[in-house]
Amino acid sequence: MTPFDGNPIAPEIAAFLAQSHRLLIDGQWVEGSGSHVTSDPATGLPLATFAIGGAAEVDAAVKAARRAFEGPWGRLTAAERTRLLFRVAELLDQRAALFTELDIVDNGMPRFISELTVANCVEMTDYYAGAVMRIEGTTTPPPRHLAALGEALTYTLREPVGVGGMIIPWNSPLAMAILKLAPALAAGCTLVVKPSEETPLTALALGQVLLDAGLPPGVVNVVNGFGADAGAAIAAHPGIDKVAFTGSTATGRRIVEAALGNLKKVSLELGGKSPVVVMPDADLAEAIPGVAMATYFLQGQNCMAGTRIFAHAAIHDQLVEGLKAFSEAMVLGHGLNPATQQGPLISATQLARVKSHIESALAEGATLVTGGQSPDRPGHFLQPTIFTDTRPNMRIQREEIFGPVMAIERFETDDLDAIATRANDSIYGLSGSVWTRDLSTAHRLVRRIHSGHVSINCHGAVGTNIPFGGTRQSGWGREFGREGLDAWLETKAVTAKL
Ligand code: NAI
Ligand code: MG
Repeated sequence: MTPFDGNPIAPEIAAFLAQSHRLLIDGQWVEGSGSHVTSDPATGLPLATFAIGGAAEVDAAVKAARRAFEGPWGRLTAAERTRLLFRVAELLDQRAALFTELDIVDNGMPRFISELTVANCVEMTDYYAGAVMRIEGTTTPPPRHLAALGEALTYTLREPVGVGGMIIPWNSPLAMAILKLAPALAAGCTLVVKPSEETPLTALALGQVLLDAGLPPGVVNVVNGFGADAGAAIAAHPGIDKVAFTGSTATGRRIVEAALGNLKKVSLELGGKSPVVVMPDADLAEAIPGVAMATYFLQGQNCMAGTRIFAHAAIHDQLVEGLKAFSEAMVLGHGLNPATQQGPLISATQLARVKSHIESALAEGATLVTGGQSPDRPGHFLQPTIFTDTRPNMRIQREEIFGPVMAIERFETDDLDAIATRANDSIYGLSGSVWTRDLSTAHRLVRRIHSGHVSINCHGAVGTNIPFGGTRQSGWGREFGREGLDAWLETKAVTAKL
């Protein structure tokens, strides 16, 4: 196998990969306590060796973040913070080709998804840059019992939470970093960011953007490392005021436990098992590609993935036939190749995990319609896979799979409460979609589905200013939009006797 599967790589990307990949602490690129190798999941070949840190490096980063918070960053005016964030957005945009290709080679995503992601990251940074000057408190008339004070003034200030810790997953590395970092910086926080050990590279390129944009030293520190070392050190650190995490529900639980020491604020964006309900009157020409990509986007390594498909008996067979044809026509390959529609899974471990779900579905009696195998080529690829005849108690219907595997269950009823009961039969509540031409059916079903976000005739359609987060075990809090900014602010109430 040739590097990048024979696809050409731009000289600037090759130069980036060849440079030394250190930690960013207090505005300096510094050595870590060890190193690790990241690889290209489409070939299995190594890409780069990068420095990793543990508790000592996290501690140095937290101290730098605290100094910046209490020093130069904390003293900036809102207008100055706005300008810096617009400059970050501008540099991200100027270096879009670098970010696009780094996420492709480190994560494996297809080019069209990576390009879309970088554009969304620029938009999100612009959005939060523009929001800085709109961080406003309120004035309130003093309550009755304060009449004793005579003339009084009561008002609120919105202040940054302080030093934030961010633990980022590998499934969309740049986006996962920006969607936390942009609102936190807009709020005036300083940060210690730990990317995933699987995908360390775009966060380093982002660190350089932040330096070049002129952010003071220590405002954003990037400490690559393993979850059990650097990640756990962030979750437990008494100098961190809030930790924001995206990843598995199991690790989220561990982070909550580690955060107990100083009762730091915690936001969690965790797993999902999102329902996709296809009603008898759905426009199948739209629903077939829409439902397929609800599952296959990012190779199914997507917390919003629609992996429980509920198909009404009237359209079940036609839908399955269409999804089978769509799946079999998908072009698997290296993400750098513009023709590629689906890339590899992130690692051999993830591929094995997904295959164990396929085996359990077979053992439990689900019907394999297509896929289920790895194509004969290097890299961690898996064919798009469809199961029908799945039942509520099967593992494939209960656990997050995080791979391109669809489970389709047939239903006969037209009773929306009964349909919603099946859709809601999960510990998760992150996303979901309903497919119908009937507006009333759509909105009535939306109300019945327990989830942080539901799409109608599309799936997982979230973005910059649409609040996103989960109910139940899918997480705590909302990201994106106004709520994403509020999550990095505290309210200080002030009462003044005049
Ligand atoms: P993970 O949740 O363990 O990893 C995500 C991040 O957490 C990484 O940066 C990792 O280094 C860090 N981490 C791991 N253990 C930690 C600890 N004890 N303290 C602090 N940080 C820690 O997920 P993993 O193992 O990569 O994937 C396993 C499964 O998790 C996937 O199959 C999928 O179901 C789910 N997942 C969900 C994601 C989402 O977007 N909601 C993203 C990634 C994984
Ligand atoms: Mg990698």
